[in-house]
This record gives sequence, C-alpha cells and structure tokens, in this order.
Amino acid sequence: MSLFQVYPLQPIAITKALGSHVWDDKGTEYLDMYGGHAVISIGHTHPHWVKRIETQLHAMAFYSNSVIMPIQEELAAALNKISAKQDYQLFLCNSGAEANENALKLASFHTGRKKIIAFSKSFHGRTSLAVAATDNPSIIAPVNETDNIIFLPFNDVEALTDCFAKQGDEIAGVIIEGIQGVAGIYEATNIFLQTIRALCDKHGAVYIADSVQCGYGRSGKFFAHDYAGVNADIYSMAKGMGNGFPIGGILIAPHIKAKFGLLGTTFGGNPLACAAALAVLEVMEKENLMEAAAEKGKALIESLKNSKGVKAVRGKGLMIGFEMEAGLEDSRKVLLKDYKIFTGEAKPNVIRLLPSLSISNAEIELFLKGLKEATAQILNKTV
Ligand SMILES: Cc1ncc(COP(=O)(O)O)c(C=O)c1O
Repeated sequence: MSLFQVYPLQPIAITKALGSHVWDDKGTEYLDMYGGHAVISIGHTHPHWVKRIETQLHAMAFYSNSVIMPIQEELAAALNKISAKQDYQLFLCNSGAEANENALKLASFHTGRKKIIAFSKSFHGRTSLAVAATDNPSIIAPVNETDNIIFLPFNDVEALTDCFAKQGDEIAGVIIEGIQGVAGIYEATNIFLQTIRALCDKHGAVYIADSVQCGYGRSGKFFAHDYAGVNADIYSMAKGMGNGFPIGGILIAPHIKAKFGLLGTTFGGNPLACAAALAVLEVMEKENLMEAAAEKGKALIESLKNSKGVKAVRGKGLMIGFEMEAGLEDSRKVLLKDYKIFTGEAKPNVIRLLPSLSISNAEIELFLKGLKEATAQILNKTV
C-alpha cells in the first residue's frame, strides 16, 4: 500500500531528534529552526517530557471521558496559572483544527446565531467549519462551502465596525490569529483586537483567539493576543501544547456555560497527552522559556534586519517571518541542502522561523552564520 500523496516531501528521513537538532537515517545532523511547524516548544525529546509520558504509560494509557481523570484537572490548574485566565474552563481535544471546530460550534451554541467573521489570509484548520473560516478556496471542498462565514480584510477596523453595524445581531463569533502563521507572519494590531473585544461585547458575539500556532509562549506572552491587553472569550490551542504529542484544547470564559453532551471526543484529554502537556508547562516555567522566547526573538529579529539580502522582517518572540531580496529566492533550499538548516516557508517567498523556545544563543548564531554564507554563495554564483 502506498501513502496518500498529499505532502510535497523533502527527500530526507528524520529518525532522531534532541533539543533543536534532528538527524537523518544516514546520521547527518540538522539545525531545526522550523520546530516541526511550531510544534516543538520545549525542545525535541526533552528528558522531563519523555519521563513524564513514560511514567504515565506505565500507570494507565487510556480510559474514556466517562470517568474522573485527575490529570485533566491538574492540566486545567496549570493552564489557569500560566495563562492567567481566571476561572476559564478547559475542553481537551486532539488537534488545532478540532480546537477551532469546537470553538466555532460553541460560539454558535452559546449565541444561537450562525454567522462567523474571519479574516483575509487566515488559516484555522481543515475540518468542516475551521476550513470554511480559512481564506484558501483550494482546500475548501464543495461540501464545506457555506454562507455563514463572512471574510473581512485583516486589521481593518472600519470594515469590521461596518459589518457589525449592519448585521451585529446575526454574528455568533469572530475568529482571529494573534499572529497569522500560514499567511506569512502578520501580526494583528492591538487596536484591531481591542475593537473585536468591544464589538463582541456590544453585540453579544464571541471573540475566538486562534492561538494554535502563535500561542503557548511562542510570542513571548502565553497568548500572542495578550499583547492587546484584552481577553478573548475562547482561546484555541494545539501545536506547542504537547511538544509533538498530539493534543489540542480550548480555554472557555466563565460566562459560557457547559451542558452535558454539548461537546465531546473519545481521545481528547487522554492521560498520555495530558502528561505531555503538563511536562511542557513544567519545563516552560522551570526554564523560563516564555521570557527566553521574548528576548531571543527580539535579538534575532534585530540581527535579521541587519543581515544582507534580508527584507521585511516580521513577528514577535520566536515566531518570525522574513523575505529575501530579488535573486535570493533559493535561500531556503540552499540553507537546507548545503547548511543543514530546516526553516519553514509561506507562499510566495517568506521564510518562517518557528524554533523550539529552548533554542540557545549559540544555535541562533549558527543559523545566522548559515544564512550569511548561503546568501554569499547565491550572490557569488549569480555574479
Ligand atoms: C493558526 C492555526 N490554526 C489551526 C491550525 C490547524 O491545526 P492542526 O493542523 O493541528 O489541525 C493551524 C495549523 O497550521 C494553524 O496554524
């Protein structure tokens, strides 16, 4: 049987990983500035993470959500503390799309309304509502097409205000990434997020902060949306939450009430995933990774701004995007092939950096050196 070919693959088989490094099946070492797409938060195979999952595996791997699961409550308490979202409630699931799917459904259940506002270039996942709220027609199947999503321009306060003025009583929720990831690293402005908060309050709609990629400390705050100084009603999380162990979840404001059967999942909140997520939060706190992400990200952004051939540097913390000047479009390929450095991309020409929050200054220097040499190599060839 062959694999269903939906991923354009690099011809590299990764078989080992540690910290910010990975190795292929031939023993070649790579620097991972991509974090497996923003998933590696505390570093590959962090010993505390391995131990916690291993201990849980020996105790109990799975039981259904029909019994009390103390480790879920432990995770809720830890999330409450680190996120400072007082009295929010936790619903656990398995991925980012599922988190957003549940967030959107909940907004609709809570308000009894159907319309969702989403923004240009957004990415919220591939399940039915999440993909419908994603601004990429090529991944929306005919069955997912719906009139219930209203797309507005990103960061356009006037368009948003206008839309609420016209149909505010139909809007169930507004979903927005704090920093758009797949789009190529574009930050939502503070005024835009504050306007969303104010308009949702005025019209009884639900503000959903998609924190799947920009959350979990990556921006230097637990949620990138926190920079605006206002709370969302629902935060969706995944990627960095389990450091590679599949888990997602939503934090839900206290005024949104649960009802038996409203949401549900078989695997969501399983003890192994909770153990992985707890390990992540414990390491983040012990190793001060959020502060590290803020400081290292700031320095890296400055260095990139001063790097030859680099233009349009964007982002916060360790969620960074930049473009290369004309003639240097192959930089990402050269970085991987000749300098053994993984980076991410966004179309048409953005290099994305989403490394582990535990990346060291020496590893960042190694990346900058690689970028400098790759740039020189391409320019020398062109001359
Ligand atoms: C902002 C955002 N939301 C949702 C998702 C979907 O997450 P998943 O692939 O875990 O379903 C992604 C994935 O890239 C994302 O970047």
